[in-house]
Amino acid sequence: ETVDWDADAAEKGGYDHYMLKEIHEQPTALRQALSGRIDLDRGTADLDVEFPTGFLDSLEEIQLVACGTSYYAAQYAAELLEEFADVRASAELASEYTFDGGRDPWRTLCVAVTQSGETADTLSALRRAAGAGVRTLAVTNTLGSTVTREADDSLFIRAGPEIGVAATKTFASQVTTLALLSVFVGRERGTLSAADARDVLENLRGLPGAVQQVLDDEGAVLEAAEEYVDADAYFFVGREYGYPVSLEGALKLKEISYDHAEGFAAGELKHGPLALVTNKTPVLAILTDGTSAAETLNNVAEAQTREAPAIGIIDGSVDAKGLDVSLKIPNIGVLTPLVANVYLQLFAYHIANLQGQSIDKPRNLAKSVTVE
Ligand code: G6P
Repeated sequence: ETVDWDADAAEKGGYDHYMLKEIHEQPTALRQALSGRIDLDRGTADLDVEFPTGFLDSLEEIQLVACGTSYYAAQYAAELLEEFADVRASAELASEYTFDGGRDPWRTLCVAVTQSGETADTLSALRRAAGAGVRTLAVTNTLGSTVTREADDSLFIRAGPEIGVAATKTFASQVTTLALLSVFVGRERGTLSAADARDVLENLRGLPGAVQQVLDDEGAVLEAAEEYVDADAYFFVGREYGYPVSLEGALKLKEISYDHAEGFAAGELKHGPLALVTNKTPVLAILTDGTSAAETLNNVAEAQTREAPAIGIIDGSVDAKGLDVSLKIPNIGVLTPLVANVYLQLFAYHIANLQGQSIDKPRNLAKSVTVE
């Protein structure tokens, strides 16, 4: 009987794994996340969320609570919110979250970022914030999930179902939706001009196409994966928006290949991690707009001096001639590192696939963790 197998293959749409299918679904997922939400005339994001009158104006702090991949999306978003909306914003690990009584609950917004809407740690952080009188917003992929019932308001990332345990398209959709929220909050607070907002919105509009360009270059990543599949460990480095992306790149690789992979703020490499660097530890660097690429390149050179192979994702921001592998992406402003992440997803996938790992169901991990 091959019926089950056939059904399974059909579900994967011709891809060997759900993860690869979902990586390739990103242009569609992102178009869905953006659909009807870009208002170029008014220069703002059109989102179906409401805040009490005057709430955003008097806002002092946004705390984003999340776990795992969602936490890295939250880190990316915290930087976007600080840049566009001139508000203190921080990503907090949900399992470590304690609402600090020194803050004014009425001038704080807690944003729970959770794909499933069911992660116990994230729900418990949300409840803690709500219990202190903080307004809450859920950013999730799942209609009717627990988080949508408990938060004051919900914003959907519209990625469609994600089956692979390792989150891929939902990360891209989370960052994209949170970028729209950042534009919206910046416009409402008057900290982002209509012209600057339009630039960001144009870049968001270019995002699905930019991601498609990376997907079309999958052969280059496969080649890099074949070259470095036997490495001892993999280090991912980046600055600014490249930092959460390096953390996410490392998480993806460790989740599905079981290899040692770690993300570092590029500037921290010299403060410890450099001791681990050898010719068997490739360094993957984000060297694009929004990542202080010139400084990062200096840090990469320090690793290369210790014989580490260097793989760089570049958009022409820096003249990165000495890299062992250069992967090219178009520059779309502060969203460029999100495009770079797609290369890291493909890299993780191909390393794990070459090793024959159980990609869609990695050992010891669950798609949704409902215990604290
Ligand atoms: C689990 C999954 C991760 C996910 C995390 C948070 O650990 O394996 O892929 O990032 O939960 O999930 P959430 O549904 O809250 O985004």
